Amino acid sequence: MCAIDIQPVIATERLVLRGLRLNDAGRIAELANDRDVARMLAAMPHPYTRDHADAFLARQGEGPGRNFAIEHPAEGLIGVAGFKRDDLGRPELGYWLGKPYWGCGFATEAAKGALGWAHKDWGKRAVMARHFSDNPASGEVLNKAGFLYTGEVTLAPSAARDALTPSRTMVWLA
Ligand SMILES: CC(C)(COP(=O)(O)OP(=O)(O)OC[C@H]1O[C@@H](n2cnc3c(N)ncnc32)[C@H](O)[C@@H]1OP(=O)(O)O)[C@@H](O)C(=O)NCCC(=O)NCCS
Repeated sequence: MCAIDIQPVIATERLVLRGLRLNDAGRIAELANDRDVARMLAAMPHPYTRDHADAFLARQGEGPGRNFAIEHPAEGLIGVAGFKRDDLGRPELGYWLGKPYWGCGFATEAAKGALGWAHKDWGKRAVMARHFSDNPASGEVLNKAGFLYTGEVTLAPSAARDALTPSRTMVWLA
């Protein structure tokens, strides 16, 4: 629990990225239990239950990854952004927003905030990201946040699809 509480707060123009809290579980379960969200992610199961959210939050602070609640001042938690390690140990950015919050530029804003933090406060000079080839919205988010397409396409798993799906590898350099 302490490891969660000491995570930094990142302020962007309209949002705050803060450490996750155990009491975020209800809201995360509410927003994440959506096939259109889960099918674009590697590890999110569908259906997504309160037990999944509790287990996800209980794991925070373990390992080298960092996850943040994306919080809107009027709406509360609207999604999650964070970094895990890819297969080569490099930081890899991931994010999702609840569907009511799509189309407002929030993912781009959150990604830029997280990248600024990763560079300035976490000392990272390169960050990877991957998006499924059938997810052009996420490709746009990454483009707008300053990522470049590496030309590499791999088959990556999606728990919700229970299938391997072509996935484009992107890189961001500080
Ligand atoms: C992908 C996701 C994070 C985008 O969030 P968002 O806040 O709507 O994204 P933004 O508004 O910052 O930017 C989306 C951009 O994609 C564009 N876009 C949306 N749908 C598109 C499509 N089908 N084809 C091409 N571009 C598209 C938008 O026009 C926008 O670009 P613009 O600002 O230049 O107009 C959100 O839809 C989501 O959470 N999806 C499910 C989970 C997910 O895909 N996570 C990422 C996994 S790699």
